[in-house]
Amino acid sequence: MTHLLTVRHLTKKFGTFTALDNLNMTVEEGEIYGLLGPNGAGKTTLLSTLFGLLLPESGKIQLKGQNITPAHPETTPGLDGFVDTPAFYPHLTALENLRLSARRRRHQFSDKTMQQRLARVGLAKAANRKVGGFSTGMKKRLGIARSLLIPPKLLILDEPTSGLDPNGVKDMRQLVLALKQEGVSILLSSHVLSEVEQIADRVGIIDHGRMVREDKLSALTTTPNTYWFKVDDATPAVSLLSSYDGFVVDRVEGNSIQIRLTPQRSVADVNRMLVQNNVNVLGIEPEKNHLEDIFFRIIGIH
Ligand SMILES: Nc1ncnc2c1ncn2[C@@H]1O[C@H](COP(=O)(O)OP(=O)(O)OP(=O)(O)O)[C@@H](O)[C@H]1O
Ligand SMILES: [Mg+2]
Repeated sequence: MTHLLTVRHLTKKFGTFTALDNLNMTVEEGEIYGLLGPNGAGKTTLLSTLFGLLLPESGKIQLKGQNITPAHPETTPGLDGFVDTPAFYPHLTALENLRLSARRRRHQFSDKTMQQRLARVGLAKAANRKVGGFSTGMKKRLGIARSLLIPPKLLILDEPTSGLDPNGVKDMRQLVLALKQEGVSILLSSHVLSEVEQIADRVGIIDHGRMVREDKLSALTTTPNTYWFKVDDATPAVSLLSSYDGFVVDRVEGNSIQIRLTPQRSVADVNRMLVQNNVNVLGIEPEKNHLEDIFFRIIGIH
């Protein structure tokens, strides 16, 4: 299978300082990929390198198997988005800025199409306002509208929710999820771990310019073979469980019992055994860790 984006052994230096250190990353088609890391980890440097705004010392970047840097240092077809806050001409309106961007890409769109793109990001009413008066959130939305003029294969968003109010954060989340439904893959960097937890399919954690962990969000946040069983009465259920081999009761909270399974036992075995012994099982859920806990464990700071 061809990955959508592959980054291999990417190294970027600023003088003697190594900002990206032999970094590897893979983004799959159709996913939302959350790029995490503390301040100065190298997220913006990595995204800028993907856009060709910075040239790496070494390494390979491929979009759908095609090398994209440093062959196209300006723009790469199929890849769009922004790093930091997107830049616009402040004395021009939103619509005029979009028109100019389209012309620069040697494309022409009707005003109706551009109005549609603005409506898509909730800026329909601001189409004829000068961008100089826009808030950070409005500029970010306009940045997305610009990126969607020619729908990209991969949309790259550097901290799309920073500087947004709670409503703006919610709108951005819904927009990102809607774009995914439309087939746009999204690579976003963020400091808001709870946000990433709500939308990302996969997560990459970078620190000191290195990829220290890359995995599916579900793989990171679930503990293997560990489940919570909610029962009507925990006391008889726990004594029942302790008389059988193959499961370990880790914790009991109210009428919820955390059970670690051994390879000989499945979730269905536990459920059957409880029900056959007249314990009502009201719910079964895998044990979940918050992304924040995982992040601190991996990065090693508290
Ligand atoms: N143009 C530059 N010249 C010199 N050093 C730079 C330059 N750009 C970035 N750096 C350094 O590279 C490192 C990575 O910076 P980068 O902006 O990529 O981090 P980041 O992960 O995006 O951080 P943040 O979460 O604060 O946005 C930092 O130590 C930064 O000081
Ligand atoms: Mg940054």
